[in-house]
Amino acid sequence: ESRGWSQLWLDYESKFAASGVANGTERKIVIECSDFDRNNRVIKSAVSELNRAFADATKEVKISFVRNEKIAAQGYKVGNIIGGSLNKPQDGDGFIIEASDENGLLYGTFHLIREKLMGRDYPDISVSCAPSNPLRMMNHWDNMDGSIERGYSGRSFFYANDEIIVDDRTVDYARFMASIGINGIVINNVNVKWAATDLITTRFFDKVKELSDIFEDYGIKLYLSLNFAAPIELGGLPICDPLDEQVKQWWKNKIKEVYDHLPNLGGFLVKADSEGRPGPFTYGRTQADGANMLGDIIAPYGGIIIWRCFVYNCTQDWRDTKTDRARAGYDYFKGLDGQYHDNVILQIKNGPMDFQIREPISPLLGGLTQTNQMLEVQIAQEYTGHQIDLCYLIPMFKEILGFKTYCKSDNDTVADVVSGRTMGNKLAGMAAVINTGNDYNWTGNDLAAANLYGFGRLSFDTELSAEEIAREWVKLTFNLEQELEDKLVDMLLRSREIYEKYTSPLGIGWMVTPGDHYGPSVDGYEYSRWGTYHRADHLGLGVDRTDKGTGYAQQYYPQNAEMYNDPHKCPENLLLFFHHIPYTWKLSSGQSLIQYIYDSHFEGYEEARKLADEWKSFEGKVPERAYNCISHRFDLQVNNAHEWCDQVNSYFYRKSGIADEKGREIF
Ligand code: GCU
Repeated sequence: ESRGWSQLWLDYESKFAASGVANGTERKIVIECSDFDRNNRVIKSAVSELNRAFADATKEVKISFVRNEKIAAQGYKVGNIIGGSLNKPQDGDGFIIEASDENGLLYGTFHLIREKLMGRDYPDISVSCAPSNPLRMMNHWDNMDGSIERGYSGRSFFYANDEIIVDDRTVDYARFMASIGINGIVINNVNVKWAATDLITTRFFDKVKELSDIFEDYGIKLYLSLNFAAPIELGGLPICDPLDEQVKQWWKNKIKEVYDHLPNLGGFLVKADSEGRPGPFTYGRTQADGANMLGDIIAPYGGIIIWRCFVYNCTQDWRDTKTDRARAGYDYFKGLDGQYHDNVILQIKNGPMDFQIREPISPLLGGLTQTNQMLEVQIAQEYTGHQIDLCYLIPMFKEILGFKTYCKSDNDTVADVVSGRTMGNKLAGMAAVINTGNDYNWTGNDLAAANLYGFGRLSFDTELSAEEIAREWVKLTFNLEQELEDKLVDMLLRSREIYEKYTSPLGIGWMVTPGDHYGPSVDGYEYSRWGTYHRADHLGLGVDRTDKGTGYAQQYYPQNAEMYNDPHKCPENLLLFFHHIPYTWKLSSGQSLIQYIYDSHFEGYEEARKLADEWKSFEGKVPERAYNCISHRFDLQVNNAHEWCDQVNSYFYRKSGIADEKGREIF
């Protein structure tokens, strides 16, 4: 613990201790590879990782790295050479890792290590694996003053006081990311302000290069978020119109300068015309004009432009029922389909609003059929409990990936679209707004690391189930007997629905405390400018987004549009997102809507208490620090669930005047 940060799922030392094997006594790891590979920076990292992970081996273990052109980029094969016992290495044990490139060799290495740490002892290993997505990215919303936008795990480990931090923690971070298959990291907040605008200047090049080099050792490309107004703020130009010749020239010079200093930069992420950020709209230009201008300039360097689609009117009037924030992404971007250049990729949030506990899938995903696109999800628990409340998000991500868009007759799920399978495009993938900070455990709540681990694994292999990922993470993180392992996996798997039950009902979202987004405030956003309304009155609630309402449902392909448009066909967990429904409406369960609201809230609160109670059986079974941290958070979660339950139920009881059939206390 002297390091000041944990080793997360790569905690070799504690695994050795648990298995009773002393660290490092007679270990003999023999690595076989070509001389060419021996000097490769990524393979050096793999070798150093193997040396650490097999430090408990008392007999010789031989590991061979082999290049095999037939294996997909960044994919790998792992198998036995001889013997092949991972956990009790015998004389002459050995494994072979084959891949076409060094990243694949590194991922194969981590596969082998993962199996070993999970205590699996295959007599015969034979796996092949190719990544589902070409781009597997983490987006940091870290600011250079050390704060983190929507961060719930301490301060930034990249920045403090407008300086960049590079230390041993940076290396561990890169190891963790590589171990779960991440190959791209955006190191600064999408809201690029103040010192962050200077990341593309000599003020920071040297330090960014140091970071980029560390990432490079682990097969990860560094990306920067860009301030679209940099020509004004850095260049002193009067405008940042993307079609202006002077502006273009400024960017040409700037990007050349950037690549002179940061030759391995992956490219830029851009939040433009969104929530007060500058963008092409100011000059009457389109989003494509902005993205393509940068794309063309960065293309000669092999860079890409990741352009976010989170563009909407954030100064709406709540009295206006025709303007619908949910429509905005599609309205702004769909018409430009096919106009984006090849090295531009649109990054699309999973839902049309903003990372609520339940939303429909953004109709832009698959709605665009001639544009590179990637999925953006949020593992930072902004609306899902601030890493206080337990909320394992992988089940949600699985639903998103599995959604059938109907954009083609086959290969039409979101997983197909964002992996590039649907359109055959190479620039495709998944990104997550990361949940880390400089807390000892990296994620505030130790259990929130399941989302960090899980996103990486899922983006690498979208076929893995939420349960498989949860189980891997639990096995790698703790040393639990089977019964407790099963229990923790089960707690994780139930947690999202529990959170959903005690917060806002049936997909309507947003009943959170404005600004901070933790805890209930049913009307907190009801009369605000943000376009986030539930429209409750004394008869019912929900937003009519059908063809008779805002027309949002019509943005989907016909099969889905018809389903969402009809309250009898609409999935009930999204009913209030698409329809304004009377409290007396009968759900398929036979409950009225109002009774469902009462029941689900009482249940959600009860189930949160049960989670907290179940956690008590982990005392003495996980490290004390983790036990106490998690216990404390469960206490807070129970309070939170209590507030949500009472406030939501009271609110709707007072609005509707309809009593709870079960006569429970509602205030
Ligand atoms: C949300 C979030 C902001 C963030 C924004 C974005 O609105 O609350 O903090 O900047 O999303 O994704 O750009």
